[in-house]
Amino acid sequence: MYRSNTCGELNVSYIGKKVTLCGWIQKVRDKGFVAWIDLRDRYGITQLVFDEERTSKELLELVRTLGRETVIQIKGTVIERASKNKNIPTGEIEVLVSELTILNESLLPPFTVEDETDGGEDIRMKYRYLDIRRNPVKENLIFRHKVSMEVRKYLSDQGFIDVETPYLIKSTPEGARDFVVPSRMNEGQFYALPQSPQTFKQLLMVGGMDKYFQIVKCFRDEDLRADRQPEFTQIDCEMAFVEQEDILNTFEGLTKHLLKEIKGVEIVNFPRITYDDAMKCYGNDKPDIRFGMEFGELNEFAKHKDFNVFNSAELVVGIAVPGANTYTRKEIDKLIDWMKRPQVGALGMVYCRCNDDGSYKSSVDKFYAQEDLAKWAEVTGANTGDLICVLSGDKNKVRAQLSALRMEMAERLGLRKADEFAPLWVIDFPLLELDEETGNYHAMHHPFTSPKPGQLELLDTNPGEVKANAYDLVLNGNEIGGGSIRIYDKETQATMFKHLGFTPKEAKAQFGFLMDAFQYGAPPHGGIAFGLDRLVSILGGQETIRDFIAFPKNNSGRDVMIDAPANIDNEQLKELNLKLDLD
Ligand code: AMO
Repeated sequence: MYRSNTCGELNVSYIGKKVTLCGWIQKVRDKGFVAWIDLRDRYGITQLVFDEERTSKELLELVRTLGRETVIQIKGTVIERASKNKNIPTGEIEVLVSELTILNESLLPPFTVEDETDGGEDIRMKYRYLDIRRNPVKENLIFRHKVSMEVRKYLSDQGFIDVETPYLIKSTPEGARDFVVPSRMNEGQFYALPQSPQTFKQLLMVGGMDKYFQIVKCFRDEDLRADRQPEFTQIDCEMAFVEQEDILNTFEGLTKHLLKEIKGVEIVNFPRITYDDAMKCYGNDKPDIRFGMEFGELNEFAKHKDFNVFNSAELVVGIAVPGANTYTRKEIDKLIDWMKRPQVGALGMVYCRCNDDGSYKSSVDKFYAQEDLAKWAEVTGANTGDLICVLSGDKNKVRAQLSALRMEMAERLGLRKADEFAPLWVIDFPLLELDEETGNYHAMHHPFTSPKPGQLELLDTNPGEVKANAYDLVLNGNEIGGGSIRIYDKETQATMFKHLGFTPKEAKAQFGFLMDAFQYGAPPHGGIAFGLDRLVSILGGQETIRDFIAFPKNNSGRDVMIDAPANIDNEQLKELNLKLDLD
């Protein structure tokens, strides 16, 4: 038996007991006549004690040679500590060691394996197995486990069946590039790794599975950000014989369950907002509603006053930043510079101070009287002490810019509280989105999403106006899930493909299997997929999903620990019939 107990469980109730422990040496403290070791395992830290009086000379000498992260096994007796540490569960006891076996030596670790480490991100990722020994990383992985167990429990209790779908498939159009895998046995042909199990879960509905879920890896070759990884995990779900309302209710149920079980937070109803309103009020289709600062559209009160910048703009829109009238001129100038950075791209910003005496002082006083500014305050909901920030220009651009400002100001004002949870359904998404570069429309969600009833006809005349039975679940300004009610008949699916620019031949080649299946009694169906990594990191109070993934990729899509991706040798290339020659 390697161990009788873990390093996290011993307390005063064990005093006098003989125990065997295993773990890693966190630290050795040597005072000459007495030495201590902090022994660590997954469960905690137990202090080991050795002294001249009660420990053999050989053992004390051995202790002095031990380095950090050496793996040892000890036998000893639990005793009460002289100076107690009330901050840790094992802080009132220590183990007086009688035997010590070195199970494995360790090289000097490249960073300290402690909560506050001296290691930077790169080195920690290279030695991720050491990083995982640290509490913050370990706790995040355990937290992720708890969330996924709760998900499984809830969905299984609701009658969902966990079905695995293949990883070596054909392209699924979720909007990113595919990762492809060459096939040795089929010369010149490639599998694609799934961007999601979308088509398979629909085929499971045709197969009568009725309620499906899977916690599944998805692969997307896209530019990486804090909330995106090239391989990530979805809680993927599909249901047959449902309408949008059924899906929203079911997955609101799942999210409520997680918030309650994991965070102890009860939220009765999730608000719903249409995509159009979200863009109008927040400039964003995933608004953070933990705080206000809703947009006020000011065209009516800002145009036709000799201020040409506003007069020539499609949209003049502002927000009231609470308490920001304290900003000095210099600070506002800095904020304007921040807005002008290419990442935000504003051309400038007009502002208006809401003074404590009820008067207004704007940067465009030459053009606007107090009554005009009072209107701005009314529309943006500004109170005394606030600063109204106003942008103008092309509607879509200006909304995105003001949304960036809204988030930045909320961050600065501490309004994005990690322990507050504000879920929100965004519904009625457009079916199609115009690609400004090519001038073509593509599916905003994916090509299997059904248009709202009666809107199919609009596809010919006004494709940008067609609304879809598609919805996103947003939590604290992050899209944590998205789904739709699907098309389930061959004709509508063929019409969709046509509008997305597929010739009938291309559509058949790529998705013939799905359209064929629709001819064999496909039930009405719909579903949703949650991003598990995002969900876990937001519930965990953070927004970097890497911190909740055991072995994540860096921003260039590399695993720096195993050094992947890597070249393969010419032999392997030949075997795969790939002509690439790397000298
Ligand atoms: P969608 O593309 O919206 O829908 O993806 C669902 C959810 O997956 C998460 N997500 C990601 N998380 C981390 N890294 C990424 N690169 C990444 N990309 C997406 C997001 C997102 O909300 N098949 C459809 C679902 C459906 O229609 O049922 C789909 O994949 O949280």
